[in-house]
Order: sequence, then C-alpha cells, then structure tokens
Amino acid sequence: MILYFSGTGNSLAISRQLAERLDEQVMPLNRAVTLDVSHERRVGLVFPCYWFNAPRAVTELVPRLRLSEESYVFIVIPCGAQAGNAIWTVRRMLAAKGIDVAYSHKIRVPDNSAVGFGRNPNEQVWKFDCYAGRLKRIAADIAAGVRRCHYAWWGAAGALCALPTVQRRTLPMFTPAVDTDKCVGCGLCAQVCPQGNITLADGKARCGGNCTQCLACVHFCSHQAVVINSKPTPKAHQYHHPKVTVGDMR
Ligand SMILES: Cc1cc2nc3c(=O)[nH]c(=O)nc-3n(C[C@H](O)[C@H](O)[C@H](O)COP(=O)(O)O)c2cc1C
Repeated sequence: MILYFSGTGNSLAISRQLAERLDEQVMPLNRAVTLDVSHERRVGLVFPCYWFNAPRAVTELVPRLRLSEESYVFIVIPCGAQAGNAIWTVRRMLAAKGIDVAYSHKIRVPDNSAVGFGRNPNEQVWKFDCYAGRLKRIAADIAAGVRRCHYAWWGAAGALCALPTVQRRTLPMFTPAVDTDKCVGCGLCAQVCPQGNITLADGKARCGGNCTQCLACVHFCSHQAVVINSKPTPKAHQYHHPKVTVGDMR
C-alpha cells in the first residue's frame, strides 16, 4: 500500500509509478477510508517537502496511522532540490510509535513553489530525465527489501525555517488568496484542495484557515484567480505533473 499526499501531482504520479513496479495499491493519505494499514506487508509514504520539512497535512496524519512493526515501511520525497528534514521528521514520528522506517529516498522533480518567487516551474521539466532512472532504482531497492535510509538532517536550514519569526515571514508569502475580480466561482480550486479548505460563497471561492500551502489551487485554477504573495500567477507558470489531471486530484 502506498499512501500519498499531493498538491500538484508529483507525489501522486511517483506513487503510481512505484505502485506499478511494486504491484501495490495507492491511496491518498488525506482522503484514506482508513488509516489502519497494520495488515499491509509493505507501506509506502510519498509526500512533498515544504520549507525543508514535511507538510503539516502529513505530520498531522502520521500519528493517526496504524502500522505493524512487521511491515516494511518506506518514505519517498519528490522535492525540488532538497528534502531537508522531511524524512527525518516523519521517521522520528514513526519511531515514537515503535515503527522503524526501512528505506527512504528523495527524488528531484519540478519545484511547484518556484511560482511564488516569480519563476516558472515548467522550466524545470528537465528534472524528469533524471527521475525515471532514480525511480527505477528506488523501486528495485524496495522490491528487494533493501534496508537503507537516505536522508540528510538539514539541521540549520530546517531549524531556521521552523523558527516562529521565519514562519511569520514565509507562511503568508505562500498562503493563497482569491482575486475576486477574476474568480468565476467554478469551484475547481475547492475540488483540488486536498485539505477541503476552499468553499464557495456568493459565487466566489474563499480560502479558509487550514491551508497547508500545497498550491494546488494556484496551479490548477483555469482563470489564474488564486494568487500568492498578492502577485498574479501567469498561465505559463502554472504547473502540475503532466500525467496527472484535475480528475485525479479530486
Ligand atoms: C510551500 C512550498 C515549499 C516548498 N519547499 C521545498 C523545499 O524546502 N525543498 C524542496 O526541495 N522543494 C520544496 N518545494 C517543492 C515541492 O516539494 C515539490 O515541487 C513537490 O514535488 C510538490 O509535490 P506535489 O506535486 O505532489 O504537490 C516546496 C513547495 C511548496 C509549495
């Protein structure tokens, strides 16, 4: 069983590719029917890295997971560059439940946060070239039951990002807001939001207070009506994994 969390589809696409090679099922972590996977022989967790750490949506759900000590547990992080403390954080949380992570790895994929810095994530699609080979090796390791955790403890960068003063500056930078002049109230953003954080009121989308900053709403909006940092998002800068559709994210 592979449990994933995904905003723009990288983690979903990688979960599917791993599942195909490993003959496993995939299930969205945030919409899972049950978090009791204690009967599974092998459990994978695939999720992005945000600000050198694991997304809040993931760290909130991990304590509720029911896993068996006998299961082979692995973590794969599709990230723009560095997984930071993401693997370390979840590994530590599972260790507190008596679960040992057998294998972990990161994979470099287009960085969907580039849009927040005025850059185009689509310019990084060259990363797909290296990811195919990496994914094949990771799947082969997992299939062979290799026990090896590849992760770095990004103490300084990870700890810096976790500082309340830094968070006060960075979090609003990446918290989406709706441009009501552009919003047509189609509700697409509400459908793709993995947190169920967007509602429609008076024909316009409205973001609630439970945003995990996955940027799904920013990248999938057909009217470029969801902005971050008060800046419009050009259509050319909107990104999602090319093999993932809106329907897959619902
Ligand atoms: C708010 C935010 C912060 C991010 N921080 C990092 C980071 O610290 N390191 C990194 O390598 N990638 C970072 N990324 C990029 C994502 O980890 C990467 O694009 C990931 O594949 C997105 O997964 P998804 O398509 O499944 O949502 C960040 C993305 C977002 C939205």
